[in-house]
Order: sequence, then structure tokens, then C-alpha cells
Amino acid sequence: MPDTLFPKGFLWGTATAGHQIEGNNIHSSNWADEQKPEFYFDEFRAPSGKACNHYEMVEEDTRLLKALGHQAYRMSLEWSRIEPTEGQFNKEATEHYIKELALLKENGITVFLTLIHFTTPVWFIEKGGFQNIENLRYFERFAEYIVPLVAPYVDSWNILNEFNLGFSSERYLWKINCLKFHARGYHIVKKYSDKPVSTAHAMVQYTPKRHHDTFDRTLAEYHDWAANGFFLHAIRTGEIVFPFTDGEVCPEVKDTLDYWAINMYTRTLIDARRQNGFGIRYEHKKLKMIPMDFYLEEMYPENMIGQLTRLYDKPIYITENGCSCDNDRFRIVYLALYLNAIREAMRMGADVRGYLYWSFMDNYEWTSFLPRFGLVDVDFDTFKRTPKPSAFFYREIMENNGFTQEILRKYLSELPTLGK
Ligand code: BGC
Repeated sequence: MPDTLFPKGFLWGTATAGHQIEGNNIHSSNWADEQKPEFYFDEFRAPSGKACNHYEMVEEDTRLLKALGHQAYRMSLEWSRIEPTEGQFNKEATEHYIKELALLKENGITVFLTLIHFTTPVWFIEKGGFQNIENLRYFERFAEYIVPLVAPYVDSWNILNEFNLGFSSERYLWKINCLKFHARGYHIVKKYSDKPVSTAHAMVQYTPKRHHDTFDRTLAEYHDWAANGFFLHAIRTGEIVFPFTDGEVCPEVKDTLDYWAINMYTRTLIDARRQNGFGIRYEHKKLKMIPMDFYLEEMYPENMIGQLTRLYDKPIYITENGCSCDNDRFRIVYLALYLNAIREAMRMGADVRGYLYWSFMDNYEWTSFLPRFGLVDVDFDTFKRTPKPSAFFYREIMENNGFTQEILRKYLSELPTLGK
């Protein structure tokens, strides 16, 4: 592994999302779903409950961010706290977020704010959520209320998070609507803030299982179009094109990103000979982290090179990248390999300006507390935070604007080897 150093001014930090860390997000539809027996179809599932209790521990967590050397932090608002009942804005929640954002700024931390990171109020979902374009007016009202209040503290905006995945005609309609929600959000933010605006895109590489095979390759192209290509094309041209769907031109969508906000984790194998089209992942025999299939993810840093180089027309921020593992040595190796690949993509022309690791602390991974993505360990009974060795490795990376072989070796030699 060569020394991996970044250009002066490169921004370093971590990312989180409200529902995953705050706790007691009782007016969100996610919370409501977590109360239903059908939610619990495997033994790994748990309700979010108090999550990391972050809502009550904002001050302590901000101190920890600062102590661990973070320059930037991506967080999200919970719409359902701010507008628990349709049309009635909650003063306490609004003030809470303003206080949290002000605290980050007082600590010199660059703030990335996501307006909606997956979760929305129960009443919004009862009206059909994003699936019904008529509901755009509710989002508009929310954004018109909250954006001017938080704008003084925000350095970079994400309107939505990762609406680009999923493959069905219903889902395509949802994505078309989300593009319009995003665009409306973009234009509202622009009225109150001169800071850059984006929406976090889940960049997934769809890799044909057999590289030479026409069927696998064609199906991989199809997935890339319906998950990545449509988004890039709509932002660049205003034209919305989905498989087996009438196309449309929506000028309001064109040029509504000031930078590409990229969340990237792993790749997806495409196998045309399987009914659902997805290849079975190669199982990690030694790196088996936790007993959940989804998280037997491959480390695939080459993604960064393959995908970032197609984003030639705007600056890029990595707004999420990380791995879930119980063995922290894995995370250190992961960080080193992915950062090295990002640096390589930059040498090839990708204009990457910053990197936010997912996630600052272990949190509620939407259905379960088992996956551990954090640089900081959280005891979910006592809410005690304990930085892992990777948090100190990452602090050195932030201090040195990258890492040398010496730094890397120091952190790996302190930890036991995998598989023992
Ligand atoms: C999401 C996060 C999630 C992470 C790890 C991203 O898709 O934005 O909310 O926790 O991946 O699965």
C-alpha cells in the first residue's frame, strides 16, 4: 500500500442520519412500522427504540466529534419531529436542531445537512408519500419553513438521500417523483442559501458475473441505467428516461446539483441466469463479520475508480462510504484501500473534494443493531461511547491529509490478525 496523501484543503469527516442515532422518533412511519409484528420476520430485527440516544446526547457527541478531529459532519433532520401533525410545526424540535447545528459551527465543523434521509412523518405516508406527486406541496411547505431557519448554519445541502435504487415500474414512478421533490427542494434552498446543494446518490456498480456474457452484460447495463444512469442524465439534461416507461422532459430538474454527493459501498453482481437477476455474493469465509447475509459484502475499492471517473462535470464529495464489521482491523484495511482508490480516481481526473466516513458511531441499521459501521463503539444499554482504534487511525488521516505506510502499519500491528 503506497503512501496516500490528498491535496491541500481536502475535507474529512463522517456521516449519520437522524432516525439511526436520535432515538424515540415516534412520529415517523419507520417507528410505526417497527411496532408491527410483521416487521420481525428474522431474528436480527429490532425496533429503533432509543437508538444511540443522540437526541439527548448532542453536546457530548459534538465534543467527541471535535476530540476525534472531525472537520465535517453530515447529519439529517427528522421531518416527523418538526411537523409531527400535518401543518403544525413543533417549536421544541425546531429549536433543538438549530441548537445542534449552531454547536457544530461553534466547534468549527463544516455542516452537511440532509433534509430527508429516508424517514418521513406517518401522516405523509398515509397520503401516499413520494409515490403521489400531489404530496410535493407538503414537502414544499416543510422546506419553506425549515430551510430559512437552519440556513445560517449549513455549509452544504443534501435534499434527499439515495432514492435511486430499486427496479419495478412502481419504483420508477417513485424515483421520477423523487427527482421532482429533489428539484423543488433545490430551488427552495437557493432562495435562502448560497451554499452548494446536492442529493446523496447511492452509486452501485453492477458487475456482470461473466464479463464476456452478453446476457449478464446487458442486464448489468439495464441495472446501471435504472439506478445510476437515469439520475446522471436527468440532472444533466432534464430528461427523465426509465425502462418501459414513457419518457418526459422536466426543465425544473436540469442542473439541480452543484456537486455529486456520492454514497458508495460495494458492488452488485448481475447473473442473467437467476430469476431475480442478482448473482450470489462470494462468501467471506474468514471475514464473516456478523450472521446477516446482506452484510457479507465484498470489499471492492475498484468501484471508486470505475464510478467516480464518470462524474467528470462537477466536484464530488463522498457523502458515505464505510463497512460494517466487528473486527476493527477490517475497517482499517477497508479505509486504507478505499481511500487509496479514491486518490487514484482523482489522479485520473475525478474532482473529489472531501470524504465522509459512514458512520461516526455504531447505530440503528434500519432493521437491526447488529451491523457495526461506527468508528465509535456504542453500548446500546448504557449509551457509552468508546472510540475504536479505527477512530484514531482516521484522526491521523484527517491530521495528515491522508496516511503514510508508517501510520497504517502502526494501527495494524496493534490489532490481532483476522481469522485467529
Ligand atoms: C444509507 C445509510 C445506511 C448505510 C449502510 C446507506 O445506504 O444512506 O442510512 O445506514 O447505507 O447500510
